[in-house]
Amino acid sequence: MAENLIVDKNKSDEEIYTEILPQIKSLINSNEPIISNLSNFTAALKEAFDKISWIGFYLLKDDDLYLGPFQGKTACTNIKVGSGVCGTSALKRETIIVENVDEFPGHIACDAGSKSEIVVPIINNNKLFGVLDLDSYQYSAFSNIDKKYLEEISGYLSEKLNWDNFILY
Ligand code: SME
Repeated sequence: MAENLIVDKNKSDEEIYTEILPQIKSLINSNEPIISNLSNFTAALKEAFDKISWIGFYLLKDDDLYLGPFQGKTACTNIKVGSGVCGTSALKRETIIVENVDEFPGHIACDAGSKSEIVVPIINNNKLFGVLDLDSYQYSAFSNIDKKYLEEISGYLSEKLNWDNFILY
């Protein structure tokens, strides 16, 4: 399925999430490869929010996170678990909101224009598969509203997709 996302960008972030959530869920097809689903997902979310400068997945293999499907400028391909915002979120298995990336010790700057960030872990059956990373050129672009809905979406991706059969390479 490839349909246009219907989104009113004059609405609040919470209203936008409410509007796009069912559309995003309908994009996810568990019979198709994880990479295809994650790719379309990043495109949909980037289209919905002008505040997102970069969105993408970093997927876990051993103790490293590797760049997965994304939308935006080219990015770092490999982040160690425990490094940067992504690696810290993976290590702690919790969402991290960074209002000013310059104030996060060890932040990895893939794009010098990036000012704030949110990273949400993808966990299925207690197993970590990677993280979802969103960046913005605005300071404090992401709030607990984003956390709430991105965690819901990440939970949906964890449940719906067949992660047990997923092999990064
Ligand atoms: N800033 C991230 C690195 C990934 S890029 O933002 C795309 C970090 O510190 O982990």
